[in-house]
Amino acid sequence: MDRETNRKFYLETFGCQMNVVDSERIVDLLQGIGYRQVEAADEADLILLNTCSIRDKAERKVYGHLGRFKPLKDRNPGLILGVGGCVAQQEGERLLEKVRYLDLVFGTHNIHKLPDMVQEVEGRRVRRIETEFLDRETRLQLFPKRAVGDTVSRFVTVMQGCDNFCSYCVVPHVRGREVSRPSDEILAEVCELAAGGVREITLIGQNVNSYGRKEPGEVSFADLLRRVHEVDGVERIRFTTSHPRDLSDELIDCFGDLEKLCKHINLPVQSGSDRILEMMNRGYTGQDYLAKVARLKAACPQIRLTSDIIVGFPGETENDFAATLELMEEVGYADVFSFLYSSRPQTAAAQMPDSLSAKAKQDRFDRLLALQEKISRQTWAQDVGRVLPVLVEGESRQGGDQIFGRTTWNRIVNFQGEKTLVGQVVPVRITTDFRNSQLGEAA
Ligand code: SAH
Ligand code: SF4
Ligand code: F3S
Repeated sequence: MDRETNRKFYLETFGCQMNVVDSERIVDLLQGIGYRQVEAADEADLILLNTCSIRDKAERKVYGHLGRFKPLKDRNPGLILGVGGCVAQQEGERLLEKVRYLDLVFGTHNIHKLPDMVQEVEGRRVRRIETEFLDRETRLQLFPKRAVGDTVSRFVTVMQGCDNFCSYCVVPHVRGREVSRPSDEILAEVCELAAGGVREITLIGQNVNSYGRKEPGEVSFADLLRRVHEVDGVERIRFTTSHPRDLSDELIDCFGDLEKLCKHINLPVQSGSDRILEMMNRGYTGQDYLAKVARLKAACPQIRLTSDIIVGFPGETENDFAATLELMEEVGYADVFSFLYSSRPQTAAAQMPDSLSAKAKQDRFDRLLALQEKISRQTWAQDVGRVLPVLVEGESRQGGDQIFGRTTWNRIVNFQGEKTLVGQVVPVRITTDFRNSQLGEAA
């Protein structure tokens, strides 16, 4: 019997959409060398963590998880344990030093080497590490190609890396320089996915708004959206994430012009204070941001915005914080993803004096949450009683005969319905708004 066909791997993924896509690639590659994915770590011959290091808490989680796998390794010395992703990139050799029972470490540019690395560790019981950044030509060749899946909604990578160097952020250090994938390749992938039954495409990158700007002759992101819009079978288009500085008028107009483009944008503001925005190296002021929001609302009155906000950036005063709350009210975000500032290695902000107590930061954080809770409730309550188009994605986690889908604003709606509706856009009357989802009935 073929030894390899019996091998099983367990993979856990943390962090953002980039890691989700990378993990799909990891699954493909490991299947290619005869491994089968399992849902329980204690059944596996190979355990991999695809990690995130955006905040300290995310990084610490990795060590917590590895500790949990130690007893498995003690029981089964043949078990291979590996760490990839952003913590692997950041820590490199240090990870092997800190975690003596770890077998392999692979960085964000080295996923393609995983099959070789695994086979070497299997055969010779050596420890292996690859964390080198690749040049742009090689990266362009290795852009993750996606196997056709069976889901209604899929991510398509349009760019990798980030050149913005926001002063708090580890991403440019762990993902490397920005490269945009050729638009023809993106289009080919979208066509293939649509032909295979995918109905919703989310174009992803750390800053999709600057797509193509550094590639001579490449189209703009707005043009790319228009081309994806032409693809038969694609019903809905989303994109994430947008840097406010790079949000062009041309792109704003797409929200008015392109029917398939969902009427939602996550436009992370980070802070409402010009002083803090400057220290963050964001490249816009509160007024610049509000002007773009006004243009978005003018181009597309039904648009809803969400945002990312950091609380307690080094030197943030009560006045700075008040400016953030004011901006939140002015925009009227549907939702906000808020984070307590976390100092990250290699970043400029890590050198900035930070004297605010943890308690004061937490207090601001709680006030921000309370305000946003009020604004969110007002926003989502407007949906109750209305009939909204919902793209059905599958059976609901609520069980029963319920299925679920999303509205244009990306809100999950559960309702009674046949599974045959999966992949279709159906009208649903919203009956109840819960904190994170809505309940409806087919209309
Ligand atoms: N590329 C995306 C952001 C990716 S990180 C963008 O520019 O919008 C997601 C969010 O994590 C950021 O928007 C920011 O709000 C938060 N974040 C990043 N670094 C952080 C840090 N050091 N501490 C706290 N939050 C952070
Ligand atoms: Fe980080 Fe800024 Fe790049 Fe977003 S744009 S990934 S916050 S450096
Ligand atoms: Fe985390 Fe890396 Fe994404 S740090 S947020 S997984 S790019």
